[in-house]
Amino acid sequence: MALVNRKIGYDEVETRDLKFNMDSSKVSKYWFNNDPWNTLFMSSVLAAVPDGERWVMQSVRKQLDMLTDPSIRKAGIEFIHQERIHAREHDVMNKASIEHGIPMDDIERTFRKVRMFLQKRLSINMQGALGAAFEHFTATIASVLIEHPETFKDTNPELLGMLFWHFVEETEHKSVSFDVFTDAAGGGLRAYLLRVTAMTSAAVAGASVFSIPFTYLLYKDKQLTNFASAKTFFRTQFVDPGVLRKVGSMFFPYFRRDFHPWDDDNREVIHAWKQEYNKSGDPTAAFLALCDWLAENRATDESKLELVPASAAS
Ligand SMILES: [Fe+2]
Ligand SMILES: [Fe+2]
Repeated sequence: MALVNRKIGYDEVETRDLKFNMDSSKVSKYWFNNDPWNTLFMSSVLAAVPDGERWVMQSVRKQLDMLTDPSIRKAGIEFIHQERIHAREHDVMNKASIEHGIPMDDIERTFRKVRMFLQKRLSINMQGALGAAFEHFTATIASVLIEHPETFKDTNPELLGMLFWHFVEETEHKSVSFDVFTDAAGGGLRAYLLRVTAMTSAAVAGASVFSIPFTYLLYKDKQLTNFASAKTFFRTQFVDPGVLRKVGSMFFPYFRRDFHPWDDDNREVIHAWKQEYNKSGDPTAAFLALCDWLAENRATDESKLELVPASAAS
């Protein structure tokens, strides 16, 4: 099987049953640096997260009996546990934003209907291929943000503890749904064609999945003409650190016939987080340890040394 040389990272996947009890005091209305546009953009993404996690998790579960490789099956089971906990904790976080009057529940309801419609109609293999595509997006977003915690320089540290826990686990399991799909679909040209068809569909759908709800949230919150915040948003997403620009650059390699999620082997970055978490069991301390590691190993200029949010230092 084509996966023989790619089995790295499976031993990283570990279920941590964390409860963050996010409420509206920790998740402020504009929790992303007090910036409406960046917060509402993230809210449009996060509205799709709990149900998206459940879809991907259910796809992997349906493919488990089709697998020939026991190590992938084992990683698939850990993956399901991780995603179930992510969905549960993001449901709580989303509820906190809804309490602030951000109508993420409208988006969640629409997304759920679309998900259930597609689940009834698409083949198991196509759902697996879509799951692998969605996971590629979440892993690339996680890989960019995990190296740029300064993006959230004025964000509640406990909330950052939760978000970075999720980024770490998305990194740990970034090849699982891809490998489960490839093994279940039998590898070869057919699996490749399914994979690129699914990624093309996911990219087209994803563009509308995020732009329409984002515009809806800006409109409902009367932020469409907040040009100062719009400027900050475009700077964050396309210039410094350029989250969407960097995510976009990781899109095309997925179309290579020999692509694998661990081509970008960034396990080193999450080890500082894991080391501290294994010692203290505290995801906020683990986030700060990751910041320290980045400051020592990745800082390229003065500004990048200011990794620890000022609010976290108190
Ligand atoms: Fe997740
Ligand atoms: Fe995931």
